[in-house]
Amino acid sequence: MEKRTLIYEGKAKQVFTTDNADVLWIHYLDQATALNGKRKEQIADKGRINSAISALLFNYLTAQGITNHHQQQLSPTDELVTKVKITPVEVVVRNFAAGHFVTRYGVAPMMELRPAVHEFYYKSDELDDPFMNDEQLVALNIAPQRELDELRVIADQVNVILTEAFRAIDIKLIDFKLEFGYTATNQLILADELSPDNMRLVDLNTGASLDKDIFRQQSGDVLTGYKIVLERLTNYLTAN
Ligand code: C5P
Repeated sequence: MEKRTLIYEGKAKQVFTTDNADVLWIHYLDQATALNGKRKEQIADKGRINSAISALLFNYLTAQGITNHHQQQLSPTDELVTKVKITPVEVVVRNFAAGHFVTRYGVAPMMELRPAVHEFYYKSDELDDPFMNDEQLVALNIAPQRELDELRVIADQVNVILTEAFRAIDIKLIDFKLEFGYTATNQLILADELSPDNMRLVDLNTGASLDKDIFRQQSGDVLTGYKIVLERLTNYLTAN
């Protein structure tokens, strides 16, 4: 497979076309951002760790019947994915209160949320990805209701599978964000990245945060937690 043109540079990844029109090449950067890109830092080895965690989780979801864009790891920081047209709706699933849910609603951090809460955000850099409900997304022609219904179903399935996998390695899945896209044959599939950059994870034994909150709060070495997640996932998923 040949890497061709850079078509997108995100907060932590670059996306290139390849000689196959249905396949994209993703390169994970050693970079972290906070405040929607307003704070940016280089963090050596972060790209390798995120790429490895994401590949492990996507492969595990594939094995559990969740279709996703991940195809193949090319190098420690590079992977091939199915080209999709990303839907402009981000799905956040929350099992416990944290982050914006705590600041917005004034509830106790880590309060258990039953049922798990789904939130949709409209992907828009100019508007800072605003929260939107179903009617807003439908009325503004951002997504049809059947797509939102499908996003909820898949997000729920992912939540069950990932909550269980993390529990098996003594990690609590607090919340996470998913992105989806349509393939050339119009199938809606899971895309983007699955790493501690877009999920909150807490060590069940120590209560330590193992995700990007360490970077957001500037409270320590963010990669310490990421390395724990990678090591435990590798041991668990390659053994099961
Ligand atoms: O900030 P907030 O509490 O809404 O984040 C909820 C979850 O979604 C967190 O796991 C966060 O990492 C993730 N998220 C993300 N990208 C965004 C917004 C939130 O990955 N643009």
